[in-house]
Amino acid sequence: MSKLEFPSSYIKFNCTGCPLEENKIVWGQGNYKNKIMFIGEAPGVNEEKFGKPFVGRSGNLLNIMLEKAGLNRELFYVTNIVKCRPPNNRQPNDEEKLCCRSFLRLEITKIAPKLIVTLGSTATNAILFNRRSMKLIVGKLVKTKIDLYSYLVFPMYHPSYVLRSGITRDDYLIFFLKLKRVICKIYLTQYKRLRWLVNEICKK
Ligand code: URA
Repeated sequence: MSKLEFPSSYIKFNCTGCPLEENKIVWGQGNYKNKIMFIGEAPGVNEEKFGKPFVGRSGNLLNIMLEKAGLNRELFYVTNIVKCRPPNNRQPNDEEKLCCRSFLRLEITKIAPKLIVTLGSTATNAILFNRRSMKLIVGKLVKTKIDLYSYLVFPMYHPSYVLRSGITRDDYLIFFLKLKRVICKIYLTQYKRLRWLVNEICKK
């Protein structure tokens, strides 16, 4: 269970008027102290059932890729742009994304991530405030400003894109290996306080 707690008054106050408000909320989960956030699109059926992000087929592939790259999911905080499942697994629309934006901002402000990994175009566009093709930015480290603070963002394809055969698993793994190098570089040069994390993942 994530120890990140959201004040219930905040949730009640903000969670009205959203078209998805009747659905179960799936909060982000994982180790936020390491300050690396993975952000996906929205929960699916399994995520809603278990109340955790990325526990279905996409989550399974994410876990496999992380492990193959020598990264352990438990080291990271995982969340979504939209916290409730849109019907029929469709992409969240602009209104739903806007309704959930305050929660995401709260997560980002509280965690103050050193690195944000966006999974898929919905998350990437929402974090980078643009609508560029994933092909142009995937696997490239970019800087963005959110509420006046700068963040490093590493856009990745969504696991569901791989499940739909958008790219092969081998090609997908290349991005995870690059992600590992990026994490090691950031944490070795800029964030030495978490040196143990570097020891955990970079010396293998
Ligand atoms: N896809 C997402 O984007 N998020 C999840 O939590 C599960 C599948």
